[in-house]
Parts: sequence; C-alpha cells; structure tokens
Amino acid sequence: MKKTSIEELKIVLKKRLSKDSYEHSLRTMDIAIDLADIHGVDTKKAAVAALLHDYARDLSGEELIASSRKAGHNINWVEERLPYLLHAPLGATQVETNLKIDDQDILSAIRKHTYGATQMNPLELTVFLADLIEPSRDGGRIGKVRDEANVDLYKAFKLAYEYQIGKLVAQGRYIHPVTMEVWNKIVDMEYIHGSGN
Ligand SMILES: [Fe+2]
Ligand SMILES: [Fe+2]
Repeated sequence: MKKTSIEELKIVLKKRLSKDSYEHSLRTMDIAIDLADIHGVDTKKAAVAALLHDYARDLSGEELIASSRKAGHNINWVEERLPYLLHAPLGATQVETNLKIDDQDILSAIRKHTYGATQMNPLELTVFLADLIEPSRDGGRIGKVRDEANVDLYKAFKLAYEYQIGKLVAQGRYIHPVTMEVWNKIVDMEYIHGSGN
C-alpha cells in the first residue's frame, strides 16, 4: 500500500467531493475510528476505508455506469435504474487505481458499504455502520442501531438491515438483489444460532 497519510487523503477528497459528501466522509471516519477502538478493529484501516467510502459518490449516473462498464463490473437491472448504487464497488476500484491503495481489507470495506454482503468481517461492519450512524443521521431506528453498534457490530448490522429493508418497502423503492441475499443470510444465521422460530 502506498504510504499516504490521512491528511493527504483528506486533501484529495476535498477537491473531489461536494462539501456535504466531504463532511459526511469526515464524520463517518470519526465514528469508524470510535467503533474500531471499541471492537478491536484496526483503526488505521477503518479510518482510511471510512474516509474514502464515498470516493465515487458524487459521479453522475452516466459516469457511474460508463466507468463501471470500463472497469469490467457487471451492472444489474436495479443498478441501471439506480446507478448511485454503483458508487460502492466503483469507489473501491477507483481508490485502488487512482490512489494506489491496494490493501484488500480497505477496498473490501469500501466495496461493501452500501448494502453489505453475506459475509461481513468486523472492519467491513465498522465502515457500513459508521456510514449509517454518523451524527447527522437520525430518525427512525438509527438511535437503536447507534446504541447497538457500540456493543455488538453484527447485531447492529442486523438491526440496520431490518430498518433499511422496512424503509425501502414502505417507500415503494427497489431492493437490490444483494440486499435480499444478505437479508436471507441474516435470517438463516438466526435460525442456525437458535433465535429464529
Ligand atoms: Fe455511500
Ligand atoms: Fe456514505
């Protein structure tokens, strides 16, 4: 991994992102560091991944689709309708290419930050949750997710998923196929570990 300091990355990001996205990235980084500290996750990796998680967030839909195609990503029909969903996988690719960051843990946490994955390690959970619970986020059950994130990353992820899927359905929005897969995996885990019914 190229040795780039957090301060250098902030300069790059500030030029690239809107003020709102940049400030959201800083808040996400602060929360990710706190969560990493609590849960024994590598704080440097958590800080870098959280800071850069929305690296591709401000690209237009056309740019997201064109760059994703160019990078060889498969684009499914939900992503064609909602190209912003591509900012997570494309962001990981661009961070690797543009910033020469090749730490697979960091790249994977960036790649999985939007809808997670059926396998999530503590670093990936940390970035996913920090993005969701940073201080500007409120309403609904975010407070509960925030409280749980300080105690148990996986339980907080499950709560976040319940909350997000409920919201998508209530608002009549598309659900990404990976979201369904992840939700089914969460339910399956509950069955396996005895709390399902
Ligand atoms: Fe994002
Ligand atoms: Fe974000």
